[in-house]
Amino acid sequence: MKIKSKPLEILIQTIFQKAGCKKIEADRIAEYLTRASLVGHDSHGVIRTPRYVDMIKDGHIVPNVKPQILMDSNNFSIVDGVDGFGQTVGPFSCMLGIKKAKKYGNSIIAVKNSGHLGRIGDFSEMAAAKNLISIHFVNSIAGLLVSPFGSWERRFSTNPFSAGVPIKNNNPFILDFATSLVAEGKAYVAHQGGKAIPKDALINDKGNDTNDTSVLYGTKDPNAKSSRGGTGALKPFGLHKGSGLSFLCEFLAGALTGSGMGREDKSKPFRNGMLSIYINPSKYVSGKDYNDEIKRYIKFFKSAKPIVDGNEILMPGEPELRNKNDRLKNGIPMTKITWDAITETANYLKIDKNLITKCL
Ligand SMILES: NC(=O)c1ccc[n+]([C@@H]2O[C@H](COP(=O)([O-])OP(=O)(O)OC[C@H]3O[C@@H](n4cnc5c(N)ncnc54)[C@H](O)[C@@H]3O)[C@@H](O)[C@H]2O)c1
Repeated sequence: MKIKSKPLEILIQTIFQKAGCKKIEADRIAEYLTRASLVGHDSHGVIRTPRYVDMIKDGHIVPNVKPQILMDSNNFSIVDGVDGFGQTVGPFSCMLGIKKAKKYGNSIIAVKNSGHLGRIGDFSEMAAAKNLISIHFVNSIAGLLVSPFGSWERRFSTNPFSAGVPIKNNNPFILDFATSLVAEGKAYVAHQGGKAIPKDALINDKGNDTNDTSVLYGTKDPNAKSSRGGTGALKPFGLHKGSGLSFLCEFLAGALTGSGMGREDKSKPFRNGMLSIYINPSKYVSGKDYNDEIKRYIKFFKSAKPIVDGNEILMPGEPELRNKNDRLKNGIPMTKITWDAITETANYLKIDKNLITKCL
């Protein structure tokens, strides 16, 4: 089925307001989740709504927090997300990093105790819109899902990495991915009957590759809510290289921020840590030489012959822009299970049924 994005954003906004968020926070959560769905990252989009509402109900996330700056210097700050929504903590820390990099040329912002930060590329886009390069390393405690290279036992979260580079008179370069072969949300979409994941995306407790998502959720039930039940794991992308990058995310986003590195404590709620680096190129390089070199290279990059005739070589960020244009016009594709879960949450919160029907 296809869902209209604007009424969907209003529905999601209303859900979060009813669930206890002030309008300004509910607006922000709805905007970020809808945008992730629009750009094609359904795993980090509106599908998260029922889980986030459950987290409020269970006291695992605190609505309406004001993130605290624990330590502040010209180029390095530590932000405590005080267990609030990632859609509040993430933009707060990103705006701080942007302000500092504009003034001092570069900045590093360490974030701890944040709720799920969602699509990390949002922060690369925010910085690029202000003409800044940014690099983001993310980890999580209590979200063990991924095995290190050579094992099936979980030692990492899906530890995403993102980077953005603004390009004069062009859309920015936005690289944004989980360091697992597929993001957990994509396994969840497959578990619910959506797009299948690659045959070697998971590993079972015998050390064999599989795409049977029950090794993650511990059940074939498509409504399984927890990924903690299974005895297998998601595999890191790129063999030992992805495993190494994920480890680096643990150091930077877990240890350096004080958020904590991965651990086997099932009693702790999910928290993201994030270390972001912001660079203001205009403070360091000559605008013309820098921009001309980038322009030349993009042309060269794009001139590579495609393997399949008629295909195009895309820059990171381009698939998301194309999805956004298509989905704004034609609606967001969604499985019935995902839509039913969202409407069930809306009904539980006694939300006006018209807001639901307007989405269809
Ligand atoms: N908050 C968290 O804890 C958390 C954890 C994991 C993932 N995530 C988010 O999940 C989302 C999905 O991650 P993913 O690993 O599924 O992403 P993915 O595998 O779809 O990769 C996306 C990246 O690859 C680029 N790309 C895709 N196809 C391309 C092509 N044909 N040519 C050139 N570039 C191409 C995209 O532009 C993008 O930069 C991301 O937004 C990530 O930040 C968040």
